[in-house]
Amino acid sequence: MKILANDGIAQSGIDALEKSGFEVITTTVAQEQLQNYINENQIVALLVRSATKVRKDLIDSCPGLKLIGRGGVGMDNIDVAYAREKGLHVINTPAASSESVAELVFAHLFGGVRFLHDSNRNMPLDGDSKFKQLKKTYAGGTELRGKTLGVIGFGRIGRATAKVALGIGMKVLYFDPFIEKSSVEISFFDGQSVSFDFESQSKASVIASSDFITLHVPAQKEYVIGKNEFEAMKEGVGIVNAARGGVLDEVALIEALENGKVAFAGLDVFESEPSPEIKILMHPNISLTPHIGAATGEAQDRIGTELATQIKALLK
Ligand SMILES: NC(=O)c1ccc[n+]([C@@H]2O[C@H](COP(=O)([O-])OP(=O)(O)OC[C@H]3O[C@@H](n4cnc5c(N)ncnc54)[C@H](O)[C@@H]3O)[C@@H](O)[C@H]2O)c1
Repeated sequence: MKILANDGIAQSGIDALEKSGFEVITTTVAQEQLQNYINENQIVALLVRSATKVRKDLIDSCPGLKLIGRGGVGMDNIDVAYAREKGLHVINTPAASSESVAELVFAHLFGGVRFLHDSNRNMPLDGDSKFKQLKKTYAGGTELRGKTLGVIGFGRIGRATAKVALGIGMKVLYFDPFIEKSSVEISFFDGQSVSFDFESQSKASVIASSDFITLHVPAQKEYVIGKNEFEAMKEGVGIVNAARGGVLDEVALIEALENGKVAFAGLDVFESEPSPEIKILMHPNISLTPHIGAATGEAQDRIGTELATQIKALLK
């Protein structure tokens, strides 16, 4: 049985699948050629990350397809309900990348409070001639320790992010309309662990009381953070979006950066992905990554083996 991993798959996943007799093809087939490729090569399982779209028309035109697998969490690039209606298995690996995304959030936060995103742009240009001037420009940083992190969406990644925050001495608040109470357990290297209990606060109070805000909600129809929310934030707040582009209003963000309400933003995801707006890309107070939250060796290994285990159980 042939599997097309169109957006790639970790070697751990390929090994596990090949050991069970599957053939794994890792060619990236262009979206418009997918239908032909799948039918001509008798592909039974199509594995994607976030790039390849699996819409109704593709599902309808590939009758031999038995399974669609998403290496990662969000399945907004797949018509999941329709595929299931048609009898296909649709699987994902929801837990595999949470810690990697949480660490990337902190890369943006630690970078943001010390202006690393901007310093890294200007040191190569002027570091040898204007060192003292740059030193002055990037002085006045702040510590994260002791500050309040507001987590919007307290699912797997929200909780993983809270753990890192607690570990460096931050206060953590969260808002999640579907999780009234939650506890997170932080495990240390030597087997000790500490458990923290939380209660969801109102969105308004999390937004008004946080020094830094991080978004961990699924894709949705309306902005979770827009003009009104920015206006209600503390002056000089830092905000990170490593969830989905459409949950944060980028026009309102630019305005909030321009008027000083937001000191910096860290963005891993973009409204107009994969062609983010130039105003966002060029802004000196935005720390940028190209949707790499789950792109660590560890997360991809876990995704690969988790996909392989599920595929073996469903198709063998
Ligand atoms: N940057 C990346 O590479 C990357 C990688 C993995 C996942 N993600 C994204 O991260 C997000 C979170 O993933 P997860 O695994 O934590 O999902 P999850 O389902 O475990 O948690 C999402 C939480 O958001 C809550 N929620 C829904 N709507 C909300 C709202 N309007 N306000 C507040 N909370 C709300 C839900 O109740 C849920 O608890 C998803 O959008 C996912 O696509 C990004």
